[in-house]
Amino acid sequence: MSQAEDHEGTRRDFLYYATGGAGAIAAGAAVWPLVNQMNPSADVRALSSIRVDVSEVEPGTQLTVKWLGKPVFIRRRTEAEIAEAKAVDVSTLPDQGAENENLSGDLPATDENRALDASGEWLVMMGVCTHLGCVPLGDAGDFGGWFCPCHGSHYDTAGRIRKGPAPRNLPVPVAEFVDETTIKLG
Ligand code: FES
Repeated sequence: MSQAEDHEGTRRDFLYYATGGAGAIAAGAAVWPLVNQMNPSADVRALSSIRVDVSEVEPGTQLTVKWLGKPVFIRRRTEAEIAEAKAVDVSTLPDQGAENENLSGDLPATDENRALDASGEWLVMMGVCTHLGCVPLGDAGDFGGWFCPCHGSHYDTAGRIRKGPAPRNLPVPVAEFVDETTIKLG
């Protein structure tokens, strides 16, 4: 497949919808630069709630969408990624808090307290490094999760900081499944 075809495929495969009636914006896994170039209008950026169609997201891949002007990672994790995340002893983590806006109280950073669904298949996080705000790369770093190349922060498969200067886990925003294939952010 040529690069151009691949690019088109990505744009077709992933759509997310703005709830304010502003229409759909094409977006995909390699999407962050694309969305950036599209320069969504201010009204789209300002929407406090969006719905994301995740029906085309395969296990082991992630979708990046722009929400409130920031990238959000929506990852469909493999069994291996989930198992790896669950095996971590929370007491060894630099940030032992869940950092999950969907949960109240000071809960520990277990994988269950980070994942969106009970099976742990879905993980939704702000794609903003907690050090100085770069966008970490997926499928990268020493812990098989995300890596921020700006100053070398490594996050694990639950988005928890494991090594490097970032002080906090990648924050989990308010999110929920509103039907089998749609995640609502905000
Ligand atoms: S901004 Fe990510 S490591 Fe500094």
